[in-house]
Amino acid sequence: MKTFFTWTFVAILCVALAAGCSHKTKEGSGNGHIRIGFSMDSLQLERWQRDRDIFVQRATELGAEVLVQSAEGNDSVQVRQAENLLTQGVDVLVVVPHNGEIAASIVDSAKRQRVPVIAYDRMIENSDVDFYVSFDNVKVGELQAKYLLDRAPKGNYILIGGSPTDNNARMFRQGQMMILDPAIKQGDIKIVADQWSKDWLPSEALSHTENALTQAQNHIAAVVASNDSTAGGVVQALAEQKLAGKVLVSGQDADLAACQRIVEGTQAMTVYKPIRPLATRAAEAAIALAKHQPVPSNTKVNNGHKDVPSYLLEPIAVDKGDIAQTVIKDGFLKVEDVYRNLPRSQWPASPASASKVSASAP
Ligand code: BGC
Repeated sequence: MKTFFTWTFVAILCVALAAGCSHKTKEGSGNGHIRIGFSMDSLQLERWQRDRDIFVQRATELGAEVLVQSAEGNDSVQVRQAENLLTQGVDVLVVVPHNGEIAASIVDSAKRQRVPVIAYDRMIENSDVDFYVSFDNVKVGELQAKYLLDRAPKGNYILIGGSPTDNNARMFRQGQMMILDPAIKQGDIKIVADQWSKDWLPSEALSHTENALTQAQNHIAAVVASNDSTAGGVVQALAEQKLAGKVLVSGQDADLAACQRIVEGTQAMTVYKPIRPLATRAAEAAIALAKHQPVPSNTKVNNGHKDVPSYLLEPIAVDKGDIAQTVIKDGFLKVEDVYRNLPRSQWPASPASASKVSASAP
């Protein structure tokens, strides 16, 4: 009997110690409220400012404090900033990695300090990251390619990928090729250039497109640009050859400049990703992880190390025909901004009363 009690006591002690050791407690932050470190690749693009603002708003509403750092595209700066956030004692780290492989070292450091990590929008590869929240990025690529192929089923295509260090850029390309491959095999379309754009820079997309146009003697049916910033560079190269509006161009993000190009006719489509549900969900997940509570997921995504519990949202293809009923109706952008360069007579009658509504707000 004595042995039974002794072993029971030892077992309870072990569980208690293990719990104490395996979790950095909420009280560990000292002042009782949760502190979230948000390490961002860059704030250059419009979308990331929106991500930051909505994330901070939701976390603050829930009583947490957010420390935001932006590395402006520099890996060593991002690693240093993340270390700094950990030193400041954050309870959870949310990371938009500039380089999905290098950022694994951030996860390692956080894990050593028992701080959970969320990969935000971009996966952190080969790491023990706790949660991933993003859009269905393969679907983004599919939507881009399908839109173009439906309208340009034959001819020469240029592929303008994003940053080669961004795992999303590779997923967009995967989705694009799932749609384009059968048409390539059938000989309906031909890929005349296939390039990646360092750091998603418009200047990179511009020079890739200029070179491809020269090589193909301007015979191009469509350009699969992987996001709106690269689409901007593509449209500039097309404009130099008086081809803007004659060659179909895709995009992604529903950036204001891209939506203006869409209504003006120089960019065919964008993929609209409502940021509010993404950033809100990420803020809620961060707080849940910090409190060691379960986080709702709808899938798992393998990152080379493990199947990461994930929540993926649905992207929406948008063109001139439905921009009023989606991007504008959601309040993501204002009609007077999108249509700013067009006469009033070309503005949609009343986007607010449009019948087709997308599921989510900004
Ligand atoms: C994001 C895109 C964005 C791109 C450049 C990608 O990882 O998913 O929305 O346009 O990065 O910042």
